[in-house]
Amino acid sequence: MKAITLAQHEPSKIAYTEVPSRILKPGEVRVLIKAAALNHRDEWCRKGLYPNLTEGTVMGSDGAGIITEIGEGVDSNYLSREVIINPALNWGQNQKVQSSSFEILGMPRNGTLAESVIVPSDRIHQKPAHLSWEEAAALPLAGLTAYRALNYQGNLVKGENLLVTGFGGGVAQFAAQFGIALGANVYISSSSNQKIKKGLELGAKAGFNYMDHNWTNQALEETGGFDLIIDSAAGDSFNHLLNVIKPGGKIVFFGATLGNPSKLEARKIFWNQIKLIGTTMGSDQDFLEMLELVETYQIKPIIDSVYSFDSAVEAFDRMRDGEQLGKIVLKP
Ligand SMILES: NC(=O)c1ccc[n+]([C@@H]2O[C@H](COP(=O)([O-])OP(=O)(O)OC[C@H]3O[C@@H](n4cnc5c(N)ncnc54)[C@H](OP(=O)(O)O)[C@@H]3O)[C@@H](O)[C@H]2O)c1
Repeated sequence: MKAITLAQHEPSKIAYTEVPSRILKPGEVRVLIKAAALNHRDEWCRKGLYPNLTEGTVMGSDGAGIITEIGEGVDSNYLSREVIINPALNWGQNQKVQSSSFEILGMPRNGTLAESVIVPSDRIHQKPAHLSWEEAAALPLAGLTAYRALNYQGNLVKGENLLVTGFGGGVAQFAAQFGIALGANVYISSSSNQKIKKGLELGAKAGFNYMDHNWTNQALEETGGFDLIIDSAAGDSFNHLLNVIKPGGKIVFFGATLGNPSKLEARKIFWNQIKLIGTTMGSDQDFLEMLELVETYQIKPIIDSVYSFDSAVEAFDRMRDGEQLGKIVLKP
């Protein structure tokens, strides 16, 4: 079958190539991929900046498709089901933190950027009926991360002021959409006024351009500060967040796109009783709750663009350059 693999020797670091497909083990299913989606993780892998990189691995964590084959012990009702895949493997039983054998589909295990993918049958969920294949593929990893960040970690309460930074990001858009559905006053930041405009159309109360040095003052004036901030940029701009979080507020972060902050204003954190909370993807319970929220509020992922597998390099470059507004989808 054809797939997109990690190929560090290629100038683009990825290859659209023929790969062998293997026989199913007991408990596994084969999903014929109708659509797959990129996450920033795929770009980190391409850049060689992710642990456990294995040359030749099929990339991609997000996918939706149809079950075409089942392994021994899997209920035959699974055959022909339209499904999405939970890419978080082996979370374990502890809702607080993943187990040491936690793994994400698409590195080092073969992922979704292929004509088909093999996964354990317990990673399979019915595709939400209101979503197209492209929208369904866009949901799993980013939706799960956003849901856990807001709910389990952020404990968002209706009527609170929520700031989601970098609205152009895949996870950020879900965080904003989920926050709006849950009745929070949602504010966004972005480097792009066009992306802010899209956020306002979706129901955000206001947006701030973080390229403007005065954005924190403007945000404080307009909102009085935030109860919860969801961030994945980190870097030195993390200190700006300490200026706009309310005393007693929480900053939940799941990434460090800008790297580590070179300094952190410790006094501001302890004096104002600010909670800094790390989060990563989510448990099986978080995934089920996220799906329920998406179905209850008929939430639809924002799709930036759809590429065919043979244009994967273009799709990856778009993510690398941060040009996207929404999820970048790839189809076989
Ligand atoms: N721990 C986890 O489970 C987990 C899960 C998913 C993602 N992540 C990590 O989280 C990060 C985002 O992932 P993603 O897939 O959502 O990425 P993405 O779709 O590529 O989005 C990246 C976004 O970051 C924003 N950004 C850049 N500089 C910023 C700044 N100074 N302040 C605020 N925002 C800034 C940009 O937003 P604008 O275009 O609006 O300016 C950009 O669109 C990545 O580092 C990724 O590896 C971690």
